Amino acid sequence: MPTTTEQEQQQAQEKARAARKAFIAEGFDLVADTYDEVNGEFFRANGARLVAHAGLRLGDRVLDLGCGRGAVLFPAATAVGPDGYVAGLDLSPRMAHATAAAVAGRGLRNVVVRVGDAEDPGFPAASFEAVLAGLMMFITPAPEAVLHGARRVLTPGGRFAMSTFGSIDPRWTGPLDAALAFLKDPLPASSPTQGARGGHPAFDTVESIASLLDACGFAEIRTVEERTVEVVESGDAWWRSQWATGRRIWLEQIPADRLQAAKRAALTALDALRDEDGVLRKETVLRYTVATRQ
Ligand SMILES: C[S@@+](CC[C@H](N)C(=O)[O-])C[C@H]1O[C@@H](n2cnc3c(N)ncnc32)[C@H](O)[C@@H]1O
Repeated sequence: MPTTTEQEQQQAQEKARAARKAFIAEGFDLVADTYDEVNGEFFRANGARLVAHAGLRLGDRVLDLGCGRGAVLFPAATAVGPDGYVAGLDLSPRMAHATAAAVAGRGLRNVVVRVGDAEDPGFPAASFEAVLAGLMMFITPAPEAVLHGARRVLTPGGRFAMSTFGSIDPRWTGPLDAALAFLKDPLPASSPTQGARGGHPAFDTVESIASLLDACGFAEIRTVEERTVEVVESGDAWWRSQWATGRRIWLEQIPADRLQAAKRAALTALDALRDEDGVLRKETVLRYTVATRQ
């Protein structure tokens, strides 16, 4: 029997988790309309790579956790074909509704999108051959709870595949930090923009990822890293892209009368990152992890 203090600690943790998830939903609701339009090229390329690594087969049933605007969902639907089935789940109602409308627009009858929490996907046990999670596991507050949920809905021998960020060039956090220095209150230590990878420490290294998956009942864990280089067209294009990601929720908190100064500071920091030829090249390392349900 847990003691009163343990119960209180557990309740406090659950409250903090619920608050974090409400914050995630609010943050992604804000960018549901611009996410795909502004940064879609990057997310769609990542989604296609994740689906390729997952090794989906025709007829597979697939659950896409944190489906956002469908960067993983749509290539997954193509990979499983009309005899397969794809379900997308997202905490953000606006993301889920916009993606459900896009599914209907494409006439995909075997794809559904729901608002929901990946910790408790709400599908029967052993109902999917694959569970995918594109760039969401390090955002959610309890990734181990998501993995337990994924394990429950996977068939024995089913695959879990996710993408996460690898090492980040620390110089590239400078421009956003310069803008966020104009916030009235400093960011809490738990904010998604804090920390090397902007998220949960279980995703810091290939080894820590393997330990997490192993502890949650997965085997044959394999991670590969892939590098992409993106040329940032201009300071304004970079600024616009920041407002179309989960970071917008922080940028919106910069007081209106300080916003222009915040932007100037960010773009000055960005200029310092130009290569000798004046071009802004942003390198991103993406990790693709695939594991088998034990
Ligand atoms: C960075 S976006 C990635 C979206 C999409 N998978 C992609 O690759 O473009 C992360 C998404 O995960 C969702 N998300 C985060 N935690 C979640 C959870 N616990 N359950 C469901 N969705 C979650 C967010 O609302 C957001 O839409």
